[in-house]
Amino acid sequence: MSHLLELRRVTKVFKGGTVALDDISFSVDDDKPSIISIAGESGSGKTTMGMMALGFMPPSTGQIFYKGQDLHKLSGRDLTVFRKEVQAVFQDPFAAYNPFYKVDHIMEVPIANFKLAKSEAEAREMMEASLVSVGLRPEETLGRFPHQLSGGQRQRLAVARALLMRPKLLIADEPVSMVDASLRATILESLHKLKRELGVTILYITHDLTTAYHVSDYIIILYRGSVMEAGDVDQVITEPKHPYTQLLIDSVPWPDLSRQWGQQEIIAMDDDKSVASQTGCKFAGRCPHVMEKCKVQRPPLYQIDEHHVASCFLYDEQPVLPGEELGTLFKSKKSDFAGNGVASGVV
Ligand SMILES: Nc1ncnc2c1ncn2[C@@H]1O[C@H](COP(=O)(O)OP(=O)(O)OP(=O)(O)O)[C@@H](O)[C@H]1O
Ligand code: SF4
Ligand SMILES: [Mg+2]
Repeated sequence: MSHLLELRRVTKVFKGGTVALDDISFSVDDDKPSIISIAGESGSGKTTMGMMALGFMPPSTGQIFYKGQDLHKLSGRDLTVFRKEVQAVFQDPFAAYNPFYKVDHIMEVPIANFKLAKSEAEAREMMEASLVSVGLRPEETLGRFPHQLSGGQRQRLAVARALLMRPKLLIADEPVSMVDASLRATILESLHKLKRELGVTILYITHDLTTAYHVSDYIIILYRGSVMEAGDVDQVITEPKHPYTQLLIDSVPWPDLSRQWGQQEIIAMDDDKSVASQTGCKFAGRCPHVMEKCKVQRPPLYQIDEHHVASCFLYDEQPVLPGEELGTLFKSKKSDFAGNGVASGVV
């Protein structure tokens, strides 16, 4: 059976030589919907990965498949199905809205384009239902212009709009980084509801480790376009194996859950880019455990546990998981928002 989405050995090199993604493979399936966080500090390649999964930019090498079909060869009905089934929510939805159109229009367009309703009444019903499902009151939202909504309301509108399409996959790129802490929980809960009640698989792109921990089932930690560690979010966050993840987690002042991580301390340490050689471990220049071989060989993914891998020679006694099989880590399903051992609503 083909995967819902599959990245197969995808590399993206931008003009000027920046390697934004470096030989990444992973897949997600929709038989067991889950939320997978793509986390890492600024410039690690998160948005590039999301853009490519949405078909907005082609890989330099490698391929991306949706339901087994090469994304960049989709056409006609298959392309329409992809455009309906794969939705996106970005950091600043305001930027995407035409300020001259009311909220009604913003929601009517996809209904008309994808012929989602048979009548005006049905369209109205769909709009209202999806607004309600993200905690917005239709009577306070419809009839208004985007600038008459708060940032948090606009972001929920973006989720509601995506919801109309009954997507199978939602790619949410920093959806809560521009709203204040009190609204984060509401927006993240609406994402969670999409997974739980509508079976939507979500790629949650973030540099905020605390929200990733609260909302996701699985996590991929990226560093300079490569996977450092991945797997079950509880295991990765509570028992991080890779020195980079350990450093990130140590820098999170966990009691203050509203703060973002990886911004000040980590970046300040990152002054030896030259050591990020083509061949060695990309983290060698910053790693407190660096060994000779780390400078000459790229560590593969070592399997720490059934649902946990780390790309680090400290674990070279463990079996190697071929990079193409990263998706196998994301197979079991967790039950609930509060299931990762922390109280819900604290984000
Ligand atoms: N269109 C582009 N042209 C050239 N370089 C790019 C382009 N887009 C991204 N890059 C570079 O690719 C790398 C990865 O960028 P990307 O936007 O994917 O990072 P990110 O993890 O999303 O970072 P952030 O947390 O700041 O959003 C960065 O070094 C960035 O400067
Ligand atoms: S492979 Fe070596 S340099 Fe890289 S994280 Fe592990 S110990 Fe550190
Ligand atoms: Mg980004």
